[in-house]
Amino acid sequence: MSEIKIALLGLGTVGTGVYSSLLKRKPEIEQLLGKRIRLSGILIKNPAKPRSDFQKAPLYSEFEKILGKEAPNVVIEAIGGIEPARTYITRSLEAGCHVISANKDLIARHGEELIRLAKEKGVRFVYEASVGGGIPVLRTLRELLRINKVQHVEGILNGTSNFILSHMRTTGCTFPEALELAQQKGYAEPDPTNDIEGLDAFYKAMVLSKWIYGVQPLWEEAEVKGIGNVRLEEIQLAEQLGLRLKHLVLLDDSLELKVKPVLVDSEHPLYGVEGVDNAVRIQTDLLGCLTLQGPGAGAEATASAIVEDFLSLYETGSVYQDKPAVSEVVQRKQAKEGTT
Ligand code: HSE
Repeated sequence: MSEIKIALLGLGTVGTGVYSSLLKRKPEIEQLLGKRIRLSGILIKNPAKPRSDFQKAPLYSEFEKILGKEAPNVVIEAIGGIEPARTYITRSLEAGCHVISANKDLIARHGEELIRLAKEKGVRFVYEASVGGGIPVLRTLRELLRINKVQHVEGILNGTSNFILSHMRTTGCTFPEALELAQQKGYAEPDPTNDIEGLDAFYKAMVLSKWIYGVQPLWEEAEVKGIGNVRLEEIQLAEQLGLRLKHLVLLDDSLELKVKPVLVDSEHPLYGVEGVDNAVRIQTDLLGCLTLQGPGAGAEATASAIVEDFLSLYETGSVYQDKPAVSEVVQRKQAKEGTT
């Protein structure tokens, strides 16, 4: 049986989740693929930290050693942020490795160049886990997009914000207390600024827009607000009025994007989406409305999407098509601006 060598970059919440899932599902994965899998190396930041759980794979603190003399087949990037993740992904693709990433900031900003490089090198750059945590949003959309036109998308795309708002409402705790719990549970980023200022959801919306329409809204034209200024009294007052505050992403086929907290009533379809769950409501011309809901953050949920991506690398055909359908409204806009 031939072997697939996997290198893992990062052992934070996501990296640890990926490591455990690969180990736990090793027999099933090997049976599905008809190949053995082996972790050829894990890139860690702090070699002095005791890690008795990770004896089965070599730990390295220098990226050069990850590529080694014979590059791995697949590199899973679980570092987050722009640098050094961008450099490591670029070097891995150049070395002929497939790359899997959940890094929404990076994909929103540099996805196009990385996808182009992957194509040049005859490998794949895949990123299902970058939007909606464990929910197969991109995969499902790609199926739909074969015959449907997506008119608009409404969603909750930041698990940390949804968890904080739900937890404050149900327990009466303060914002800092709820944030601390979200950090302990591994939902928030190591620096939670992007979560609470709406940027994490904004990057995910940008990845989504590129996926659906083939283009992104102009970054400076998007309305982006987070939940950083929300007070417990507002949540409690809203509750008395039968309303809930939800941090929503609203994107349509004219490329209008809003990311902000919105008061919704009990009739609103996302009113009952609570805790760390994300949800995406996709409105299309033929199907009508489809809602996907599930855990949007956390080690296991994110690892689930990454392992799905890993399997997809070895399937024939791929959800990562070359050219997404660009909406008619966008085509008209581009033709007018001469940007096609
Ligand atoms: N910090 C992110 C969130 C993790 O809370 O949604 C998943 O992308």
